[in-house]
Amino acid sequence: MKRSLLFLPVLLSVSLLAYGQELPFRITHGPWLCDMTETGVTIVWMTNKNSLSWVEVAPDDGSHFYGKERPKYYDTHMGRKQAATNLHKVRIENLSPGTRYRYAVFSKEVLHWENDAKIIFGTTIANPAYSWNSLSFKTFSANDDTVSFIMLNDIHGRAEFMKDLCRDIDFSSIDLVIFNGDMSTWIISEEQIFSDFLDAAADLFAKRVPIVFTRGNHETRGPYADFLMNYFPVKDGKIYRIVHVGKVAFIILDCGEDKPDSDIEYSGLAAFDAYRDEQAEWLKQAVQHKSFRDAGNRIVVLHMPPGVSNWHGTLHLDETLLPVLNEARIDAVLSGHMHRYSYNPPVPGKTAFPVIVNSNNTYLRGDIINGTIRIRMFGAEGGKPTEHILD
Ligand SMILES: [Fe+2]
Repeated sequence: MKRSLLFLPVLLSVSLLAYGQELPFRITHGPWLCDMTETGVTIVWMTNKNSLSWVEVAPDDGSHFYGKERPKYYDTHMGRKQAATNLHKVRIENLSPGTRYRYAVFSKEVLHWENDAKIIFGTTIANPAYSWNSLSFKTFSANDDTVSFIMLNDIHGRAEFMKDLCRDIDFSSIDLVIFNGDMSTWIISEEQIFSDFLDAAADLFAKRVPIVFTRGNHETRGPYADFLMNYFPVKDGKIYRIVHVGKVAFIILDCGEDKPDSDIEYSGLAAFDAYRDEQAEWLKQAVQHKSFRDAGNRIVVLHMPPGVSNWHGTLHLDETLLPVLNEARIDAVLSGHMHRYSYNPPVPGKTAFPVIVNSNNTYLRGDIINGTIRIRMFGAEGGKPTEHILD
């Protein structure tokens, strides 16, 4: 009796499908914001079926979102609006710096694609933008004297812990949230990315505050690892990059694995020495760029802390990237990986800047006000945060 009851929902769904009554078309994840600049942002979301998707954007000017037709931005790639996908990535450009915009996402289901002249669409769904629930974002501005950010690392799939850790953060005062690696222990599937941390991020802040994502060593592992950055699109496709927020330049680096490429744990798939060499070559050029040299502050985001470990990955970072960073007037390197907090002051002849390691059980909050960097680490259990002021 019990056994037949257990099978009832399965039988019901099979029979519904048999009668053509499939699951209703819906938004399954997000939206979440990526790749924010002074004039652009990428809005990402997922639906349970393929669809033609777009974003409508309105200024935050007190008008009703539906007071007039709003400009539509589509998920386009090489001149074609994307419809054969259920992962939607809409890039919006030509926005004004330091400006808040409201937005709504729309997806029109593709029911049947016989040929390009005969595509049959179904229902259009949306994340509605009524005044009481409209989503919005604010573009970065070089004129901002204050930059506030949150950094999380080494969550290792503990989504509920992450929600608890972040429950008291007022994200309305936060410009960006940095995921500095090991948010997952490995990447097995698309669904796992959401259940590990991304659904929690969208619930907490990511519909309104952009994510800046870089990998830890763990996110380089797993059968789905090569697709991870599809969910955190960046314009030129490189994880390593410089993100300018206000007068602060964040150098985002991608550490690679911690053991030698030949280690048996990687089954011959690792080629991180060459990848770190590639980043070092890029970094040599990037730190010479006028926009970087003119920045008020320079902060490096790198999962594995340089200069504090004798594992191969760190030693190779020390050999390739550290000499460039030491000449680049860096204010601080923010890292994780060690699963415990440490403050590593500059070491003459080795590191020209402090390396601050956030633990796996705290979030790091950075506030840069007129050039002074205040770094604090907060735990889920409350209490006085660990604090560093860097002038
Ligand atoms: Fe970790």
